[in-house]
Amino acid sequence: MRVILITGKGGVGKTSLAAATALEAARRGHRTFLLSADPAHNLGDALDRRVGAGTVSLAPGLWAREVAVLDELDRSWSEIHTFLRGLLRESANPLIADELLTFPGLEELVALRAIREVEATGEFDCCVVDCAPTGATLRMLRFPDALRLFMDHFFEMKRKGVRAIRPLLERLHADGMVPDESVFDAVERLVADVDAVRRILIDGTRTSARLVVNPARLVVAETRRTFAYLSLYGIATDAVLVNRVLPEAASHGFFARWAEREREELEAIEASFPLPRLAVPLHEHELRGQADLASLGERVYAGRDPAELFTRSRPIRLEKQAGRTRLEIDLPGASKEELELVELGHEIVVRVRDMSRIVALPESVAGRRVERARLEAGVLVIEFA
Ligand SMILES: Nc1ncnc2c1ncn2[C@@H]1O[C@H](COP(=O)(O)OP(=O)(O)O)[C@@H](O)[C@H]1O
Ligand SMILES: [Mg+2]
Repeated sequence: MRVILITGKGGVGKTSLAAATALEAARRGHRTFLLSADPAHNLGDALDRRVGAGTVSLAPGLWAREVAVLDELDRSWSEIHTFLRGLLRESANPLIADELLTFPGLEELVALRAIREVEATGEFDCCVVDCAPTGATLRMLRFPDALRLFMDHFFEMKRKGVRAIRPLLERLHADGMVPDESVFDAVERLVADVDAVRRILIDGTRTSARLVVNPARLVVAETRRTFAYLSLYGIATDAVLVNRVLPEAASHGFFARWAEREREELEAIEASFPLPRLAVPLHEHELRGQADLASLGERVYAGRDPAELFTRSRPIRLEKQAGRTRLEIDLPGASKEELELVELGHEIVVRVRDMSRIVALPESVAGRRVERARLEAGVLVIEFA
């Protein structure tokens, strides 16, 4: 099943373009599911009809639903949550309690778990996801790392027969509490879920992100960072949807100055995103209702099939060159100053500004010393001894 993640800053047009993409995919005969994973659902508003948490049919070959994140969260998380809350009641440190109970990124991840459910039905060719604004989506990407660190401690408790629950509990001053089997089971289920979602997301043969931008300086700057972060987490981006481009007629008269500024932004977009770009004109009225969005889809994709992979990229690659193995990570737009690398035996921590990722090294290079690392035209190249 093809998975298309429509992402971008708040208000840029994600929901409109996600719906337009799904409508056009369905019109072309793909059995399509449109998922709203943004907790601030506005799919219903865009389509001018109720959508909600149950699946609704929108058009021939097109279904949709909004993920009710809190309900879903409760379903998978309640046992773990109850245990942690009990544990933390004994603990003196409310800061740690917060950190553990909220797990930044969990909500978004639970929302994306719905992709798996759509896939599991075997009834769809294409799933279009209206994502939460970039900040939240990126938190979600970081979640598997956070979870794994937590898990390492958690399973250690289990391994040690739960008697010597040191690492986590020491921090909490609550040695007396012991999780029972159902908590371990719940944790195992969560880990399996997270891993399955992650595997779908990093499979570049079926999943791509499409970045929605507006020709406006702040939007372009933020989206450029998002593009690098998505790569860092191994998610391929296959197109940029440039939304709210002024129509030709605006190049004279009152909007002439705007049009000029916009040209500069469009150049910046071209330079920042070496990807297929699809332009979406600014409409004279709000885009609302299915008919509007369907015709938007036809115009945006202009004869192309939205379910197509517009470009094939593997943001993280292991290459062999002259007998040497190198790990390459696309980090478009990143500069040397904002990059940091830490070796941890079988893992490398790559930090780009405020986002970091623990990259588990493949068998063939795990444990080998990093000989050289450099940034080469937006690609981090790590060479092993
Ligand atoms: N190209 C466009 N022309 C005119 N209005 C647009 C365009 N793209 C989006 N809009 C309007 O902008 C508002 C925000 O769009 P929306 O798709 O909800 O953004 P997001 O989901 O990113 O917050 C909506 O009212 C939508 O109709
Ligand atoms: Mg939206």
